[in-house]
Amino acid sequence: MTRITGHTAVLGVIADPIAHVRAPQVFNPLFEAVGIDAVLVPVHVAPDGLATALDGLRRTLNLRGLAVTIPHKVAIARLCDTLGDNGRRVGAVNAVRFEDGPNGERCLVGDMFDGRGYVAGMRAGGFDFDGKRVLQIGAGGAGMAIAFAVAEAGATALTIANRTPAKAEELAARVAVEFPGCAVRGAPADTDPGGYDVIVNTTSLGLKQDDPLPLDVERADRGCTISEIIMTPERTALLDRAEARGHPIHFGRPMLEHQAELILRFFGFETA
Ligand code: ATR
Repeated sequence: MTRITGHTAVLGVIADPIAHVRAPQVFNPLFEAVGIDAVLVPVHVAPDGLATALDGLRRTLNLRGLAVTIPHKVAIARLCDTLGDNGRRVGAVNAVRFEDGPNGERCLVGDMFDGRGYVAGMRAGGFDFDGKRVLQIGAGGAGMAIAFAVAEAGATALTIANRTPAKAEELAARVAVEFPGCAVRGAPADTDPGGYDVIVNTTSLGLKQDDPLPLDVERADRGCTISEIIMTPERTALLDRAEARGHPIHFGRPMLEHQAELILRFFGFETA
């Protein structure tokens, strides 16, 4: 257990409800492992108190920053003074830090690391998106961050397929504006999964044991990599089926692990 002193940097994870948050279990062991004198604690704030709470937290001088989760990702993005590229593109943040502004005021700087964490995790697992054709299933909150990050990582084609195709079309249009070098299109959920180098499931299908598969793996190209962002269960039915058919598979957990590293750097800590 970290020894907390007056020198210890304090971080929080802001959420409502709070009991399910995972950031303390992820970050505190990491601080200990890499010798960072910091502690991350849960901060329970309801939406109607968010602006007031942030104002108070902004004046808490030893508070370095916050991990941000449901339901505050979009609301806090709007309250930030500065947004990083991904936070701006996605319109949501999952980390904010407090920074001294030019006139001594403390500014709130936010960014979104969900997508970059996924890309970094895939890269560490041996998959590079540069020049690749990608099929993304799902266009929800997590899918949004991943679509921008995949295009940023150099994918040449990205199809976003979703149960509600209008959401896929809208996201595709936004990604296309930011990354004109990537051929992005929206599609219905039952789009043909053939012709891709990698398929990523960003829907919630797979969280529950009796969920239907998010796609028909039988129709994916041989050799197509199949990846998940779901962490629990680690081995979803989709990954099981894909592996049985000989596809390379990637689990959801590396996205979180690699994201933690990126967020530590965003908070201003050296990690290596
Ligand atoms: P998150 O922030 O975790 O991404 P979300 O924003 O609620 O959660 O998005 C969930 C994604 O899973 C969406 O793409 C959703 O499809 P819709 O946009 O049509 O709602 C998808 N999803 C959830 N349940 C689904 C189901 N039963 N069948 C197909 N897609 C589903």
